[in-house]
Amino acid sequence: MIPDRPARLLLNRRHGTPGVVVLPESGFRRARAEIASWPGYAPTPLLPLEDVAAAARVAAVHWKDEGGRFGLGSFKALGGAYAVARLLVAELARRGVANAATTAELAGGAHRDAVREITVTCATDGNHGRSVAWGAERFGCRCVIFVHETVSQGRRDAIARYGAEIRVVPGNYDDAVRAAAKTAEAEGWFVVSDTSYEGYTEIPRDVMQGYRVMVDEAADQLQGAAPTHAFIQGGVGGVAAAVAIHLRARFGAEVKIIVVEPERAACLLASAEAGEAVAVPGDLDTLMAGLACGEPSLLAWQELERGAFAFMAVSDDSAVDCMRLLARRRPAITAGESAVAGLAALLLAAREPMSRAMLGLDPESRVLLFGTEGATDPDLYARLIDPSD
Ligand SMILES: Cc1ncc(COP(=O)(O)O)c(C=O)c1O
Repeated sequence: MIPDRPARLLLNRRHGTPGVVVLPESGFRRARAEIASWPGYAPTPLLPLEDVAAAARVAAVHWKDEGGRFGLGSFKALGGAYAVARLLVAELARRGVANAATTAELAGGAHRDAVREITVTCATDGNHGRSVAWGAERFGCRCVIFVHETVSQGRRDAIARYGAEIRVVPGNYDDAVRAAAKTAEAEGWFVVSDTSYEGYTEIPRDVMQGYRVMVDEAADQLQGAAPTHAFIQGGVGGVAAAVAIHLRARFGAEVKIIVVEPERAACLLASAEAGEAVAVPGDLDTLMAGLACGEPSLLAWQELERGAFAFMAVSDDSAVDCMRLLARRRPAITAGESAVAGLAALLLAAREPMSRAMLGLDPESRVLLFGTEGATDPDLYARLIDPSD
């Protein structure tokens, strides 16, 4: 179905050992109620991929298609915007402006002047910044987004469309994270980051609680038929941790979570190898822009070091193979570069007897995949799907 390409697979020897509660259930219920109340909210589709299931010799493969999420093109719409909403409500209370403002009030223009005094910021390789900018525009605060120099113009423009100021910094995503933190400190802005570190966990926790809405929808759509495996892309690990936590909450600890990263930015796999969170150096040069992260999120790692069953790394070539596979099948699915690592990992592992056995993939397996973005950079998408254009 796709050409054979090199991939790495590492079973997590600490899988299943007890750990800390990273995302409390009460926080998830709050996130679900809030996000479901936003105008335009609708569950994204869960699509059966019979052709992929046949090729992988498993019972079923389902694809949670996040391309249509709130018109932003990725699941990240659920996280950043929700964290902005939470932050504004808390900050208005702290400043004595409103004790318990609702986001519907803010979106309707209540406390406009006070909200305008608040600036949110973050680093992004595209999708998270788009979500933060969208949330800032909806709820009325200022927004400054930091991107590193290789973030495409298409992605910068998509963020600027929501009224955010874009600042470009040299280096990679991790350099942009540091630039955002430093500027926020100097200016009194609020960092709404999707990655957490020592002393900075509250906001990324909200972001991850928002991601759980995607997993919750998928669990409902599976109508009680528990998946045996979920393959999920890893950048800093936030969404993978949310998937691990929420599938465990809905289906128990039996579901095997396989975290999949680009070969050139596999910081979660490297951390599992090292037995502790470690950074991978270099320019993180991968086509999978949303996954080009060299340092795990602290919160995410706290979950994944025990919650992940295995870690895999796949090549850019196999991502392009999978984008084309989905674009050419009928019905076609539009999936961006950072959406398909999980699919690539499934197809590559399933064909190889050793990895198949290591992951416990068999004809009874029911696999859940998350198509975490659509064509979030349409020009790049078109070029990759049909290079002759
Ligand atoms: C499309 C897409 N998928 C997956 C991820 C990975 O998410 P995380 O950084 O939370 O691991 C990202 C991150 O930007 C993304 O944009």
